[in-house]
Amino acid sequence: MPAKAALYDDLAAQLAALIEGEPDLVANAANMAALIYHGLPDLNWAGFYFAEGERELRLGPFQGKPACIRIPWGEGVCGAAAARRESVLVADVHQFPGHIACDSASNSELVVPMIEDGRVEGVLDLDSPLFGRFDETDRAGCERLVAVFLENRRRYSAGLGLP
Ligand code: SME
Repeated sequence: MPAKAALYDDLAAQLAALIEGEPDLVANAANMAALIYHGLPDLNWAGFYFAEGERELRLGPFQGKPACIRIPWGEGVCGAAAARRESVLVADVHQFPGHIACDSASNSELVVPMIEDGRVEGVLDLDSPLFGRFDETDRAGCERLVAVFLENRRRYSAGLGLP
């Protein structure tokens, strides 16, 4: 779908410009969540969970309704993506064993892990009220956005370093 791929080209360019030279990771993550939430159609939640070792994920900057704060490693779609170290695309979250329902409006979900030097630093999580909202173009596009975020982190920051 060229139109969708072009949308991700545009978002990647906007993200790079937004975070260029800025070392504050919370600020960058907040802007990235806002960019995605307002730039992609049919989302009800977009944001981050940051890893606490390989024990749990903790809520980071996001757009959407308030969400669960801590997710045990390996649980839910977010925990699965972190534990598997790969993106997880779920067409119907109600069919995903252990799915954590933060917003009852969510019907499909895409979670992309952020991996740096072999460590899972966190995940980018997108939720949609539509079933089957995300496809391989979304997976590739969101993996690219995460790559832009991590590249900036490597260049301008000493690490996530969250308390
Ligand atoms: N549904 C996620 C939890 C996070 S919220 O969607 C924001 C999961 O199953 O991991």
